Amino acid sequence: MKRRPFIAGNWKMHLTLAESVRLAQAVAESCAACPDRDVMIAPAFTSLASVCTAVKGSPLLIGAQNIAWEKEGAYTGEISPVMLKDLGVNLAIIGHSERRQIFGEDDAMINRRMHGALNGGIQPILCIGETLADREAGNTFSVLEKQLRHGLNKVSNEQMAQVVLAYEPVWAIGTGKTASKEQAQEVHAFLRQLLANLYEKNIADATRILYGGSVKFDNIDNLMAQPDIDGALVGGAALKAESFDRIVRFR
Ligand code: 13P
Repeated sequence: MKRRPFIAGNWKMHLTLAESVRLAQAVAESCAACPDRDVMIAPAFTSLASVCTAVKGSPLLIGAQNIAWEKEGAYTGEISPVMLKDLGVNLAIIGHSERRQIFGEDDAMINRRMHGALNGGIQPILCIGETLADREAGNTFSVLEKQLRHGLNKVSNEQMAQVVLAYEPVWAIGTGKTASKEQAQEVHAFLRQLLANLYEKNIADATRILYGGSVKFDNIDNLMAQPDIDGALVGGAALKAESFDRIVRFR
């Protein structure tokens, strides 16, 4: 099964408005040079509108770093699917480990965000990942299975066509410690098997699973050569046009 590669940059809480627009325009050029893959950037909420305007007409996809589950209402600090759709945002990152660990988002909330996105016409990127303590205790697979099952609770076969998964081991995020290609492939194959148990086989085969955690220009090629790694969710190395360009152009 051939899955379209997906390279995504998560800008987290970085870059001013002007810096964001400049970087987005550079990434749009990288993206245009690689028509056989999807490329996405997720700027801070404050830059989303300007970035959407700046790259309008480009195949570059725009992601939000989170999404609310209601269309509107008394939810201070939240951004709704309707608001994101209005800007031309295509996808939303959901369940990032920083949201889980620093801001206390749990599986139930993450599942609500998943349904908010799907009902609002925004493609969700569901992030899951084990901590170092989980891995050292031998709990990697049970933790990931729990996060996946809860995150996808009541997501239908049809809706799964919209869903992208991201495996981001917490111990590899921002640490410079990438999972080895073997470690990442092992988990991705496990997740695909889980999807095959939860859904139909063709859905498991078609779902894109991204790897995230210290992806850089010098490890992207090896990661992308793994059969179940369909793309990358990149943090630090997505903040510079040159390094992200090389990642987009993985070989
Ligand atoms: P780094 O690439 O900086 O490790 O961040 C990964 C990440 O969290 C992407 O969502």
